[in-house]
Amino acid sequence: ADIPSIRTALLQWYSTVHALRQMPWRKQFDPKAADREQRAQRAYEVWISEIMLQQTQVATVIPYYNRWLEKYSSFPSSKFVADLHSIDFPPYVISQTLRSTRSTLCGRDSVTTTARAVCSLVQKKAVANYGGRLPDNAKDMQANIPGIGRYSAGAICSIAYGENAPVLDGNVNRLLSRFLALHAPPKAKATLDILWNAASAMVQDLDSSSEYPGDVNQALIELGSTVCKVRDPSCASCPIRPSCAAYTATQLNGSITPSLT
Ligand code: ADE
Repeated sequence: ADIPSIRTALLQWYSTVHALRQMPWRKQFDPKAADREQRAQRAYEVWISEIMLQQTQVATVIPYYNRWLEKYSSFPSSKFVADLHSIDFPPYVISQTLRSTRSTLCGRDSVTTTARAVCSLVQKKAVANYGGRLPDNAKDMQANIPGIGRYSAGAICSIAYGENAPVLDGNVNRLLSRFLALHAPPKAKATLDILWNAASAMVQDLDSSSEYPGDVNQALIELGSTVCKVRDPSCASCPIRPSCAAYTATQLNGSITPSLT
């Protein structure tokens, strides 16, 4: 099928799942109907959620995120006024942050201080260069904000700004690799180029009255993590299986349990 109809099936599925799997960082938000300040606030919230969600399961993150939201909601401005030094991060985030930035950023500081230091650095950049906000587009965000790569920039800008920026995390990588039946090393540059292009195509040429790039991206993340799992993918409940090359191949092979890898 063509991309618009694949996307329709994906979004239709996501709208039902979304209702069932509420997450505090997911809310009804129409970037087109929001003003600049509201979009900036949303970007800030999504940024924190993406930091907490890196390498950490949704269920683990939810209480941390809710505690942060509670504190943060007492600050009316979208600017970086919330006290980043008091954020309580999930432990895994802190250890990852420590690994990548300890030597450059923090010297001998404590583990928790290090994760917070990344946020403070972002805060300083935002205040110095962007009027206290995150940059308003993915390219700028990825180039100029520490700790934000192509994935995070795509997630934040698609959800908060309605920008048609793609996401490719481990789950979306696996999903699209299967969907295209790519028999290629998942982390090789050539493979990643193909996958980023496929992810981009999913957020191009949306029907702007009914389709949001942030929903498309979150639907891909959700489908990858809950249905197109590493082991025993639940193809029977996949909305896009009619167009999935790996699924089609398993059908032709006559296997009952798809041996998708
Ligand atoms: N992991 C990273 N971002 C996510 C999101 N927006 N929803 C669910 N899981 C995620």
